Amino acid sequence: MKEEQGREGMNRRDFVKGMVAGGAGLYVSQRLGAKGSQAWAAEPADIGQCKSVKVTCISETSWFDNAQIMADIMKAGGPTANQYAVKWHPKNAGGYSALVEVEALDGTTRRILLDTGWNPAWMDYVFQREGIDDRLRKNEIEFLYVSHEHIDHFWGLPATLKYRPDIKLLVSNRYYPEGKELIQKSGFKGELAELGPGKIHRLFPGCASATFDIPIMIRVQGEQALFFNVKDKGLVTVTGCCHMGVVTMLQYGRDHIQTGGKLYGLYGGLHIAPFEQWDAKLDPLISGLADMKMQQVAANHCTGLIAIQKMQAAGIPVVKGTAKYGSRSELYVGNGDTVSF
Ligand SMILES: [Fe+2]
Ligand SMILES: [Fe+2]
Repeated sequence: MKEEQGREGMNRRDFVKGMVAGGAGLYVSQRLGAKGSQAWAAEPADIGQCKSVKVTCISETSWFDNAQIMADIMKAGGPTANQYAVKWHPKNAGGYSALVEVEALDGTTRRILLDTGWNPAWMDYVFQREGIDDRLRKNEIEFLYVSHEHIDHFWGLPATLKYRPDIKLLVSNRYYPEGKELIQKSGFKGELAELGPGKIHRLFPGCASATFDIPIMIRVQGEQALFFNVKDKGLVTVTGCCHMGVVTMLQYGRDHIQTGGKLYGLYGGLHIAPFEQWDAKLDPLISGLADMKMQQVAANHCTGLIAIQKMQAAGIPVVKGTAKYGSRSELYVGNGDTVSF
């Protein structure tokens, strides 16, 4: 028993060491990202404006047990393992997804489904709970926007396609062959848009996407994020995991999109302490985010409760939730909660 605990302890220590090293690397890349974006900054893009953005958290519970998912990854070789080769514990899968409703200047509403989760049974439950199944059937959702190829954001594609196989699908152009095959095998019959890095993709007035071409743990390349220019408020970002780093992403948006330099709010995972580890090397991320002077920070999923608490202590206006349907704390926007910008 003791040996087993020791073995698990060693695994956890190794894993956390790898993750913190990744976190430190993340901060370095954020600083480089800031320099880099200044070096090649073109004229900021005019993406137009929208009146408001409302985000409903369909699910931020990607898995149920941190220790189990860490053990699965360690058994496959650690953070550099190929996600398609990991033997995932079948009962630990949940999924990440959000409904983004954008009010145009003329008062009409456009809807985006952000990410499609992981476990089809969990996604059935959360989609039905939030009425996403009906909205998909009635064609009230304009497109499915998948932030990145990670298991908990992308593998649940059949859960969306069963209601709307011909939905328009927006992914980054950095997917591995297994990911492209998954799209075909899921019965996808719609239009596929593969968005590449190095430019702002205007999706509709007030809404744009940018792809960050970065290597991500368990062999994923690149993540894309949504940027909104909200009239009289400023820039609002919506992310899956934000593996590119929240400071990098916000600086990129501020430098490349016309908003008068105003950063207003964000929704989504921030990948700061997903496994609730903390290291002093992560402190500058919190102070960097505080320096951004955002008005509403709705962080959840892989941000980590410990990171949320540190944000609040640093005076960042963290949006609170109701801790229902499996979300762990009222300190953040969780399952079934909404936030409006
Ligand atoms: Fe991720
Ligand atoms: Fe994630």
